[in-house]
Amino acid sequence: MNKKVTARAHTNIALIKYWGKKNPELIIPTTSSLSLTLDQFYTDTAVVFNSNLSHDELTLNGQPITDHTLLKTSTFLDIVRQMAGINTFARIESTNHVPTAAGLASSASGFAALAAASSKAAGLNLDRQALSRLARRGSGSASRSIFGGFAEWIAGEDDLTSYAHPIQENVTMDIQMLTVVLDGSVKKIGSRQGMQHAIATSPFYDTWVAESEVDLVTMKQAIANNDFQTLGELAEHNALQMHSLNFTAKPAFTYFNGDTLNILNLVQNLRHQGIQAYATMDAGPNVKIISQSTATQVICEAIKKDFPNATVEVAKPGPGISYL
Ligand code: ADP
Ligand code: DP6
Ligand code: CO
Repeated sequence: MNKKVTARAHTNIALIKYWGKKNPELIIPTTSSLSLTLDQFYTDTAVVFNSNLSHDELTLNGQPITDHTLLKTSTFLDIVRQMAGINTFARIESTNHVPTAAGLASSASGFAALAAASSKAAGLNLDRQALSRLARRGSGSASRSIFGGFAEWIAGEDDLTSYAHPIQENVTMDIQMLTVVLDGSVKKIGSRQGMQHAIATSPFYDTWVAESEVDLVTMKQAIANNDFQTLGELAEHNALQMHSLNFTAKPAFTYFNGDTLNILNLVQNLRHQGIQAYATMDAGPNVKIISQSTATQVICEAIKKDFPNATVEVAKPGPGISYL
């Protein structure tokens, strides 16, 4: 106790998406999901419990935070306090090396880093499965950021059975995600709210659950077979299915903007030219282009030509949780 612990977690982008909870309180998803952890984007979080504090204190990127993010963080720390049998408050300093709440998975790296740092600072010594279950309580996608490379979050039925595990931590396939950022601003509809509305009102929700189960099996086969084309085609298809739920919700909504469609179009045009490029989108307008290192230059040139204002980052498979 009173020991400051710093952890680093990388973001992950799902190839088979999570979009809905069967238990919102425990964050048990309706479907299993599968992601790739990225090397370029991560969160560093330092936690120290201190009996002199009268409440939890949080800074994010050096700024004191008092809004809903502090509430989410404090509620999360209550779980850690209960597990450790302590009642002291904590000082948390977090830095996102990723845009916050812009659909680039800051909640995944944010809560994975918080789970690792806070549990250790509280004197707990959790294995990676227990850490994944804990991170899940902060944000579902965070369960997968405990692991590097390809990770699967098994939906499970309850707190004990819903956790992520590594599918392939040292990725053998040549795969990368070109992250095209045209809008890094904070989204209007958080992932939590968006998926809740989709599950409650889209008439296609049950179809999504059934399709996603089949997609997951095929995706795991594609990874095992080093089959990049199947992986890319399926990831794009799965992402578009997820976004269709939002288009078919009542009232309908979308995370897409005009540029999202323009980039999707560019990716399709690249494929017509024989370049293997596939798109995936999360709860935000920015597109990630799933591609291989041999195609980096041609894809980047095409983006720069049509979107001179875009920031493009080349993200490769990244590692799991670490302590600094
Ligand atoms: P994203 O697409 O970035 O994952 P979400 O809507 O899922 O967006 O979640 C964004 C929210 O996650 C933020 O508004 C904030 O409450 C929380 N968050 C992001 N980064 C951190 C962090 N480093 N520590 C604690 N909470 C964080
Ligand atoms: C579209 O994990 O951010 O990125 O569990 O409510 O915190 P909460 O939601 P979050 O949702 C991620 C949704 C997604 C798809 C995915 O990462 O699987
Ligand atoms: Co998120």
